Amino acid sequence: MAKNTFYITTPLYYVNANPHIGHAYTTLAADIVSRHRRANGEKVFFQTGTDEHGSNIEKIAELNKVKPKQWADKVCYEFKAMWQDLNIIHDYFIRTTDPDHEEQVQLIFEHLIKTGDIYPGTYEGLYCPMCENFYEEKELLNGDCPVHKKKVENVKEESFFFKLSKYEDKLLKYYENNPDFLSPKHRAKEIINFAKSGLKDISVSRTNVSWGIPVKSNPKHTIYVWFDALLNYITGAGYQVQKNDTEKLKKFESVWPADIHLVGKEIYRFHAIIWPAILMAMDIPLPKKIFAHGWWTVTGEKMSKSKGNFVNPVDMIEEYGLDSLRYFLFREVPFGQDGDFSFESLKQRYNADLANDLGNLFSRILNLSNKYLGKEMPEKPENSVLFEKLSSDTAYIDEKINDLQFGDALNKIWEAVSLLNKEVDSQKPWAMAKTDLEKAKFFLKDSIWSLRLIAGWLYPFMPNTSAQMQMYLGIGDIKSYNPDDQKLPPLFPRKN
Ligand code: MSP
Repeated sequence: MAKNTFYITTPLYYVNANPHIGHAYTTLAADIVSRHRRANGEKVFFQTGTDEHGSNIEKIAELNKVKPKQWADKVCYEFKAMWQDLNIIHDYFIRTTDPDHEEQVQLIFEHLIKTGDIYPGTYEGLYCPMCENFYEEKELLNGDCPVHKKKVENVKEESFFFKLSKYEDKLLKYYENNPDFLSPKHRAKEIINFAKSGLKDISVSRTNVSWGIPVKSNPKHTIYVWFDALLNYITGAGYQVQKNDTEKLKKFESVWPADIHLVGKEIYRFHAIIWPAILMAMDIPLPKKIFAHGWWTVTGEKMSKSKGNFVNPVDMIEEYGLDSLRYFLFREVPFGQDGDFSFESLKQRYNADLANDLGNLFSRILNLSNKYLGKEMPEKPENSVLFEKLSSDTAYIDEKINDLQFGDALNKIWEAVSLLNKEVDSQKPWAMAKTDLEKAKFFLKDSIWSLRLIAGWLYPFMPNTSAQMQMYLGIGDIKSYNPDDQKLPPLFPRKN
């Protein structure tokens, strides 16, 4: 079977912390892309999940006096619930403790021992237990981990190694021949420079971490969490070392290579260097694009569990509604850059862009059209002016979403909202109706159809708002809005 499905992934979230805005950001981005593609008739496979092994999880479970798996079950449930609260439609939720995944990880590890890409040795190095990552002296910030700003540990242990060094040239050639593979460009440059500075073999097993997948041929070792977690992108898609399950095989062939791996910038190296090298060693084609987005910060610091400065999306949903949050996160900051989060800017966007611009436009046009056109939604007028003009923006919006430039797509949508608001202000259809009723009707029909267009554009970003707009605009089952039976509620009531 040939590939026929668009495959998009998020990182697997660690179960040491409850989900916050930072996690929601990546998963929402994947939701926007997959809703948009599905709406355009494409088959989509959207995978997310949780990363459940490793010493951090072991420690936090111990602190809470439960088994690591029990702890993982609890937090995994929180993530699943959060994705539901955020109206995220994923196709598959993988846990690294899933028996299928664990089995494949073990088999892949054994396979790579056989090919010589994984070999036994001794490791000595500087380790940040919070990142579960080794650092080189030159990468430290005043001797501390560059992400957590905490002391790193000097660790010496027997370990299996993955022959990353063997893939340095191959990777560099691949980056060069596939300029769209790593994105955005400035991050690609960092990766290329890092690879050019020389890649060392990496340790991929631990003897001092019991909460992990055992190495089959040497169970004193557990498999390094990153090696385990990265493999999710293929195991979740049905990859098997021994191709004996035909259903899974079919599935894998229909989705792989993945179209987009979305990740945060702090884990780009794992995804842009180690992951492609593992795939090369396995002789599996590489994903098409690996995109690194920026961080949400709070007064300049990365939002994270360990810093205790994280924002819970549920608080914002309660105050402003889900779609306002979905809108804010992708309008406020270009995807790929960092952005500082504040309730003040959320409120400002809410009142200005949603309550004022979009909400008012919607109720003005619907109320006027009810007055002058009646209850039935109109046919599209011939020679529509605004609708024709705006229709040509659809291609641009599609392109920007496909390119993960969500902010540009939203800017374009809000240009249309502003244009319509200005037209209503200047044409004054209520006054026009007194002198030239036909002209006023034409204008309102044109506006209704333009709003239908906007409602469609908004769908991937704000699915509930889009559905509500479409219902009142007579798209779908309800063909008219009857002001005698119901009062049109504001889409976004103003907040003081
Ligand atoms: N478990 C690893 C990923 C393994 S993927 C094979 C991991 N997990 S994480 O839970 O710490 O973070 C996962 C992702 O959450 C990051 O890549 C990033 O996308 C997102 N974010 C976490 N905090 C964030 C912010 N403050 N801002 C934006 N996104 C951040 O890393």
